[in-house]
Amino acid sequence: MNDLILRSLRKERIERFPVWLMRQAGRYMKEYRALREKEKDFLSFCKNVPLAVKASLLPLELLQVDAIIIFSDILVPLEPMGVKVEFLEGAGPNVVWDGDVRSLKKISYNDTQFVNEIVRDVKSLQKEVPVIGFCGAPFTLLSYMVEGSSSKDSKRAKLFMWENADYLKLMELIVDNLVEYLKGQVKAGADLIQVFDSWAMHLSYLDFSKYAREILSVFFEKLRREISVPIIYFYRGSGSFLKEVYHLPIDAVSVDWTVDMVGEMSRTDKVFQGNLDPYVLYSSKENVQKKVLELIGSVPRRTGYIFNLGHGLMPDMEFEKVKLLVDTVKSLRW
Ligand code: CP3
Repeated sequence: MNDLILRSLRKERIERFPVWLMRQAGRYMKEYRALREKEKDFLSFCKNVPLAVKASLLPLELLQVDAIIIFSDILVPLEPMGVKVEFLEGAGPNVVWDGDVRSLKKISYNDTQFVNEIVRDVKSLQKEVPVIGFCGAPFTLLSYMVEGSSSKDSKRAKLFMWENADYLKLMELIVDNLVEYLKGQVKAGADLIQVFDSWAMHLSYLDFSKYAREILSVFFEKLRREISVPIIYFYRGSGSFLKEVYHLPIDAVSVDWTVDMVGEMSRTDKVFQGNLDPYVLYSSKENVQKKVLELIGSVPRRTGYIFNLGHGLMPDMEFEKVKLLVDTVKSLRW
């Protein structure tokens, strides 16, 4: 097996930097769009194990990335908690919750057996690269539950955090459910875990700091007691909050493009993942190569580093440029 990503996470010797991309299986691939035709409703697609397995495998087949992330969504574990989740064609997620924390359920990993089956099948159908399991982070899930959709500012989520007497109770339930949900994925064979905090950037520095101490540290500590695979924490707003994540019991931080990654490598022993501005992929092929080489050329070789974007691929990006990006990262060997 190509275990470059696992070696990089353990800070062992590597001969080149490993690469995978957030949202690597998505609409920018015509093969993905063809699979999606077979199940119009996105959540039904996520629950259709053979189709989700095929989608998970596409980036390995078409891009030869160094890791597969299972095809699913961060909103999947909300449904068994008693929250209504739907994806409206072209409009993104729509989450409906009545705001009553007492009505929410504690979940078991058997409630999302289809996710565990996807992990198991992706593991058994290919032995080439490690498989990444994932979930959303507590604040990002709170944001979807309270806002109902992707929010430009998480305004209502902040008010909930500051003023609702049940905030900590809700976070505790989300934390316990996520630990259980990830336990299922690791039992099924996930080799590493990534936690997505896509909306962390909406928080003030002091609120993020409190969230990191009160919620994230408890979450990752509980997770560490239950699973033994490496953990990557992806959060937007990385540039501002770095100091607050270095003391979390995680192996790697996945940072956005605002971070001076090489500078930060001397301030922590955490492994870094990132952080190319995804919009580079809208520029010419020459510029894609130039920007990738500029980034990886600046990272000291043989250190714990995983190439990724600062955020996910977009549906209107060109496949050929994504392929060129992956090939360019892989061309730098030592
Ligand atoms: O390839 C992979 O990265 C694995 C699959 C994956 C998806 N979503 C598939 C998906 C992963 C890891 C996610 C995580 C996710 N989902 C996040 C965190 C990462 C990030 O982007 O910040 C968030 C915030 C979500 C919530 C969500 N789901 C959004 C905002 C959307 C996009 C809505 C739209 O229509 O553009 C989704 C839907 C979704 N999840 C798609 C994919 C490929 C597109 C829907 C489709 O195929 O029709």
